[in-house]
Order: sequence, then C-alpha cells, then structure tokens
Amino acid sequence: MVRHALDKGYEVVGVCRAGSVGKLDEFKGRITVVAGPTNDRDVIGRAVAGCDGVLTVLVPWGVHGYSTGTARAVLDHADPGARLIFSCGWHITRDGQDVYPWRLRAFVAAFGVLARLARFADIRDQVQACRQIFASDTRWTVVRGSDLEEGDSQGLPVWSRHVGDPVLKSNITRRVDFALFMVDALTNDELVHEAPAIVGRRTPSALAA
Ligand SMILES: NC(=O)c1ccc[n+]([C@@H]2O[C@H](COP(=O)([O-])OP(=O)(O)OC[C@H]3O[C@@H](n4cnc5c(N)ncnc54)[C@H](OP(=O)(O)O)[C@@H]3O)[C@@H](O)[C@H]2O)c1
Repeated sequence: MVRHALDKGYEVVGVCRAGSVGKLDEFKGRITVVAGPTNDRDVIGRAVAGCDGVLTVLVPWGVHGYSTGTARAVLDHADPGARLIFSCGWHITRDGQDVYPWRLRAFVAAFGVLARLARFADIRDQVQACRQIFASDTRWTVVRGSDLEEGDSQGLPVWSRHVGDPVLKSNITRRVDFALFMVDALTNDELVHEAPAIVGRRTPSALAA
C-alpha cells in the first residue's frame, strides 16, 4: 500500500508496532512512521491528523480487541470528510446477502473456534469492528479480500457487492492488487459506503464475466 501511495504522489504517514518499523526501511526518508499499536488512540490521533485518507488493515490477531480498537480509533480521530478505507476478508458480510462456498464457511467456523481457544485470534472482533464501521456516517469503504497469492500485478481487481456472484468464483487476488484496490478506493467516490468483495481481474471467473 505504501508503494502504491507513493507512486501516486501522496504524502504518507505509516503506523506500525515498534518491532515492525524495520519492515519499512525501504521507504526511509520518504514516509513518516509513527510507531505503536493501531488500537492506541493517541498513536492514531497523531498519525491521521491532517490526512485526506486513511488506509486501515483490520486483523483478527490476538484476543484483546485489536480490530475493534483500531477501527474505533480511526473512526473517532480521522478528519471529518476524510476517505477511510478498511481491509478485511470475504467472511465479513454487510447485509447478510452473501452466499459462501462451503469450504470458506467450514474454514471460518473451525479457525474461529480453534484460534479463540488458543487465544491466537478472534474473528468475532473483526466482525464487530466492521459493524462499527457500517454504522458510521464517515466516508468509509470496507474492502473484502478473497484468498491471496503473491506475484506481479494483474491490474485493479474487479468487485461485487456479494460473495456468491459468479464473477468472484475464482476466489484469488494478487496481494499487490489488493493493496492497489485499497489505494485506488481513496479517490473512487462510487465506493463510499460500499463493502466490495474483490477478485483478481485476470482470474478465470473475472474474465468469464
Ligand atoms: N492473508 C489472507 O489470505 C487474506 C485473505 C483475505 C483477506 N485478508 C485481509 O487482508 C488484510 C491483511 O491480511 P494479512 O494476511 O496480510 O495480515 P498479516 O500478514 O497477518 O498482517 C497484517 C498486519 O497485522 C499486524 N499484526 C500481525 N500480527 C499481529 C498481532 N499478533 N497483533 C497485532 N497486530 C498484528 C502487523 O502489523 P505491524 O505492521 O504493526 O507488525 C501486520 O502488518 C487483513 O485485513 C485480512 O483480513 C487476508
């Protein structure tokens, strides 16, 4: 996301946990880094001040409300009118109209229980974070990623309002293109108050559609 944002000429402020700052070394001198957890309201308050857009990665890791705390901090502290783009997976539903492949349903159910028992992750917290966002009157978009793969860009992914739409059937997106979609959404007002489910634009299902 940082690379795409710099390519577009944006001034970038990044937030990551102190132990992860080194991951951003390749951007040294070109971005401002605020070190700290993304659910720290003070960290987010400092980072998003004056920003026209905020790209937020919502992860279910840990069992201490990391996603809900992160979403709340961004919703509360971002400048009024700022574009807010959040990431999550297909498993999040906005209106209950998504039709999921059985494999995804089974994975989410099994992973959800095991991860919570092991106190490793809490998918319910990511679901709750998205509910907060859907209920917000900020200019949000929640980008719902398919399975991801590494590799060169195939261009901007295609999207649908609902999982189950044939265009999404291939269920795979290049990681670099998920990031591209997030950054592109900053200037795409058609996506305000949408929760697009995305898929790679050169996947068989996208090409067929
Ligand atoms: N992976 C997939 O197959 C997949 C599929 C569909 C959608 N998605 C969505 O894509 C987004 C990114 O997923 P990803 O798989 O790339 O995530 P990831 O590799 O697990 O990590 C993303 C960020 O989460 C933070 N993080 C990692 N472990 C953490 C922990 N224990 N406590 C707190 N923060 C932690 C890290 O932030 P720091 O920089 O601070 O270290 C990291 O940069 C998420 O919104 C996810 O729901 C992923």
